[in-house]
Amino acid sequence: MTPLFDPIQVGDLELPNRIVMAPLTRNRAVAGLKPGALQVEYYRQRASAGLIISEATQISPMGQGYLDTPGIYDSAQVAAWKQVTDAVHAVGGRIFVQLWHVGRISHSSLLPDAAAPVSSTDRRPNVQTFAAEGFVDVSAPRALRDEEIPALIEDYRHAARCAREAGFDGVEVHAANNYLLEQFLRDSVNDRTGPYGGSIFNRARLVVEIMQAIAAEIGAGRTGIRISPMTTFNDTARDSDPQALFEHLVARLDPLGLAYVHVIQGETGGPRYPDDAERPFDYAALKACFDGPWMLNNGYGPEDAPQALAAGEADLIAFGRPFISNPDLVRRLREGAPLTPPNPETFYGGGAEGYTDYPTLDADGAVES
Ligand code: PHB
Repeated sequence: MTPLFDPIQVGDLELPNRIVMAPLTRNRAVAGLKPGALQVEYYRQRASAGLIISEATQISPMGQGYLDTPGIYDSAQVAAWKQVTDAVHAVGGRIFVQLWHVGRISHSSLLPDAAAPVSSTDRRPNVQTFAAEGFVDVSAPRALRDEEIPALIEDYRHAARCAREAGFDGVEVHAANNYLLEQFLRDSVNDRTGPYGGSIFNRARLVVEIMQAIAAEIGAGRTGIRISPMTTFNDTARDSDPQALFEHLVARLDPLGLAYVHVIQGETGGPRYPDDAERPFDYAALKACFDGPWMLNNGYGPEDAPQALAAGEADLIAFGRPFISNPDLVRRLREGAPLTPPNPETFYGGGAEGYTDYPTLDADGAVES
C-alpha cells in the first residue's frame, strides 16, 4: 500500500484516501446552465475519489466565459446539482463545487445584455473563448469600480450558500488559471490604484475578503482554494514576484483554518517546472506558509503521486485527465492496473461519448470493453 490510501481529515470531512478528482471543464450543461442526467452519472461513476471537485461553476451570470458551463446561483441550478450530490453521496462519495468567475476571459455574447466582461483592468488578453458562434476573441473588459466589489463578494457568498443547499460538502474557490481572482492578484494584469491594486497586500485583498465571506457563510472547514502561481495560461504573464505574492496570500489565509489549499504546479496541463521560468518556484516554501492539508496537481501519475506524498510535498494529489478516462481510478491505482488514455476530442462539449462511456475494471481486474 502507498500513502495514497491513507485516510485524511480535510476540514470537516474525513476522506478515505488522498486521491482527489480535479476540477474539469466539460461544457455539457443543459438548458438553464444546469447539470443534467449525464452529469449525475459522470460524477456518480467517479465517487470512489477521496474527494471530487466539480467542474468550474460560475457564481453569477457575469462569471461565465464559455458555452455550456454550469452555474450555481439560481434555484433551478441548486435543484439540478442536488441530483448530482445525492447520487455521489448515495455511493459513499464526497463532492465540493468549484466556484468560478472568469473575469476578462469571456465574450459579450455569453453575458447578460451583451455586457463587457469585468476584470481588475480594462486591458484585453490575446485569447479566444468558445461561444455559440464558435471560437471568438475575448471581448474588451471593463475594470470593476471599487464600489462594485461588495456586490461581487456577495455573489461569491450567495453561490456558497446555494452550494450548501444543493448538498455539496463544500466549495473550492477558483483563484487559478488567470481568471477573475488571479486577474486581481498579479501585477502583470492588475493596474489599479486604490484598495485593490498596487501592493501585494492590496492585490490579495479581494481573495482574502471572498474567503472570509464564504468561511463565515458555510464554515472554513468546508472551504478550499485553488491557486496557480506560475501558469501563463490564458495569455497572462507571471507576476513580477510570484513567490512573495503567493506566500503572502497563503500566510494571510492560514488563520482562517481552511479545508485545504490546492496548487497547480507550473504550467496548467504542461510542465510542473517550466524551463523558461526565470527562477524555479519554491513550492515547499509556499507549503510552509499553511498549516492545513496541501493538495498538489498537474500531471501526477501512479509513480510520482505516492512519491510526492511520501516526501511530505503534499497531503493530497488531484488528478485531472486520468479521472476523465478512468472512472475507477482509485481501484486502478490500488491494483496497479493500466490506465485508459483519454480522448482530447471529447473533452469539451458533446454527450455521453468520452464522458460517461469510459470502461471500468471488471471483477477479475480486466478492462471491460
Ligand atoms: C477551460 O475551459 O479550458 C478551463 C476552465 C477552467 C480552468 C482551466 C481551463 O481553470
